[in-house]
Amino acid sequence: MTTHGHSSATALERPVRVAVVGAGAFGTLHARAFAANRDCTLVSIVDHDEKRAAALAESVGATASHQSIDDALSSGGIDAVSVVTAGAFHLAPTLAALDAGASVLIEKPVVLTSSDGRILREADARAEGFVMPAHILRFAGAYQELRHRVRHGAVGAPRALSFRRHRTADHDTLFPDIHPVLMTMIHDIDLALWLTGATARTVSARQVEAPGRNQPLAVWAEVETTDGASLSFQVSWSLPSGSLPDALEVIGDAGALSLSLSPRLHDFDAATPAIDDTLTPDAAHGALREEIRTFVDAVRFHTPPAAVTLDDALNGLTLAEQIIRSAEQNRCVS
Ligand SMILES: NC(=O)c1ccc[n+]([C@@H]2O[C@H](COP(=O)([O-])OP(=O)(O)OC[C@H]3O[C@@H](n4cnc5c(N)ncnc54)[C@H](O)[C@@H]3O)[C@@H](O)[C@H]2O)c1
Repeated sequence: MTTHGHSSATALERPVRVAVVGAGAFGTLHARAFAANRDCTLVSIVDHDEKRAAALAESVGATASHQSIDDALSSGGIDAVSVVTAGAFHLAPTLAALDAGASVLIEKPVVLTSSDGRILREADARAEGFVMPAHILRFAGAYQELRHRVRHGAVGAPRALSFRRHRTADHDTLFPDIHPVLMTMIHDIDLALWLTGATARTVSARQVEAPGRNQPLAVWAEVETTDGASLSFQVSWSLPSGSLPDALEVIGDAGALSLSLSPRLHDFDAATPAIDDTLTPDAAHGALREEIRTFVDAVRFHTPPAAVTLDDALNGLTLAEQIIRSAEQNRCVS
């Protein structure tokens, strides 16, 4: 087996053959985005729940459905696998796909612990294919514009960044086994590292518990970077319904930038009246389609994508673990 053998300049002369693993809410969006990409063929939808896999396969026109990734891979000819299982179940299908020579788009959090991260990194290093973490916000126009401005000096040197992301309380029952830092704050951790290129020096976090809950209600974290900048993160799974705009502020020594991401499109007759036109719209381009286009092109052209790397995701995971440790132990960690 070659190390990242995907180095030749010639593109595949046929559509990339894709399997989507996990036919839940987000797997459905992945499958639709692959189905809309003309450079790939959706070969299989995989889910332990056979009926769910078959129903999604039929609705997006996938060739087949399977109950396990091994069945899909042994049916042959799969170039690329999108892993959209729940967070605790990302590693096994990813390792199976890499072992079979396929490349993998892996949802966030890529894995839940650094030790699984090391297994993933080793598997990626010896694989013919590559792993691309699905950090969707890197593909969203608003965040790309903000980063472009920061990089071109709009605020001078970024000195203080704050991130806010509140989600509905039902996340606690939907994702009982995953800490909100790993499930939700991980988006902002990735954005912070992507925007600043910073390394954390100290982490001080607190989590707020509430009776009857599996996970903390809220987590507040302050991170000092090695160059003396301050990163501030707020996350909660608290809203009874609806949403608060996700917010990001960058304070520099020569200016400030603020971003607020809320739905811009409303359909007042619909069951879900706020339409997400930036990340996962039903039509036109959104961040998910852009992320999937990047992945499919990387497989077509045999080149691991530079837009987001496995090391980026694993650096974010390390900081997430430090925040959780600080919050659980209620002390500052270095
Ligand atoms: N980027 C984002 O903004 C975003 C948003 C939502 C969800 N996600 C991520 O997407 C992933 C899936 O989330 P979801 O809400 O769709 O989850 P879900 O629980 O609704 O669906 C997961 C599906 O995977 C199946 N499954 C689990 N393990 C499997 C395995 N080993 N093989 C085959 N099928 C398996 C389950 O039967 C289920 O149908 C999670 O990692 C989540 O963090 C990302």
